[in-house]
Amino acid sequence: MVELNLRRVRLNRHLRTAMRECRVHRNQLIQPVFAVDGIDGRETIAGLDEVYRDTPDSLLAQIEADLAAGIDKFLLFGVPRDKHLTGFDHGFASERIAAIKNRFGTDLWLAVDVCLCSYTTHGHCGVLNEAGDYVVNDATVAELAAAATQYADAGADCVAPSDMMDGRVGAIRAALDARGHERVTVMSYAAKFHSSFYGPFRAAANSAPAADNPLSDRSTYQLDPARPSDALLSAARDDAEGADILMVKPGLPYLDVLADLSAAIPKPWAVYQTSGEQAAIDVLAKHQLIGRDAAQAETWTAFVRAGAQMIISYAARRAQAILKD
Ligand code: PBG
Ligand code: ZN
Repeated sequence: MVELNLRRVRLNRHLRTAMRECRVHRNQLIQPVFAVDGIDGRETIAGLDEVYRDTPDSLLAQIEADLAAGIDKFLLFGVPRDKHLTGFDHGFASERIAAIKNRFGTDLWLAVDVCLCSYTTHGHCGVLNEAGDYVVNDATVAELAAAATQYADAGADCVAPSDMMDGRVGAIRAALDARGHERVTVMSYAAKFHSSFYGPFRAAANSAPAADNPLSDRSTYQLDPARPSDALLSAARDDAEGADILMVKPGLPYLDVLADLSAAIPKPWAVYQTSGEQAAIDVLAKHQLIGRDAAQAETWTAFVRAGAQMIISYAARRAQAILKD
């Protein structure tokens, strides 16, 4: 004999929506944008639908369209034309920040990624020693703090260090406060893993470590995927150094980390659905193997269920189609 028990409440669609324990709202989403110096027109990014390498003009037009679509939070990546070993110029990114804030003011919230991998000749996230086999911690932190204060001077609402050096959150917080930027928030990439899911981003940001480096990858500063305790240490340290918002990155492969850390540290949590994760969804949809919007919504629900309040997603600008109810 068949007896309904758990299925009884699943039968009615009104009840199904009413029983949900977590919901995703458009206002939780943060849209990454790329501003690229020295290109003639906006460029597409291999693997990512409806995400572009923007010129200064196309970036403003894109943000205007995103605001009209109900997306009001952005994470800006500045990609300079000229690369250096040290002595970096953050003018291009700073000008973009000023232009965005002049045009849109408090209609939007602008976070700016703070890192050096788009700025260095070798593609590492910091300054290398002479042998080229070590990212020098403190010299890198000094450069990052200088970049963060410039971005704050230009009007950034938030700075987001993604480099994974030790002590950068404290150094950035101190540098911001010393310049009167005590209202600028720091969103730390607290648990950023050494992941294979960053591929499309590195092409977009022109930031892949050069193949001829003695240091061929980012494993000496990003976290090992098999060491969740390092994620807890890193997040607790960034919390103690004054990070306002903490982040786990990538998203889906690290839901366990997100759940554990967000339960352990009662600060706002963000999750970064990385370029490789996005491309996986988009390519499956392109081959009609999944429904693009439903799959996207499912991943966002998983992030909220695991404890994220904020989601950095390349598909944020499509939220109205994705989040139908
Ligand atoms: C590096 C950085 C990375 C991303 C943003 N900033 C990762 C990396 O290159 O190691 C990844 C973003 C994505 O894949 O969407 N500072
Ligand atoms: Zn970097």
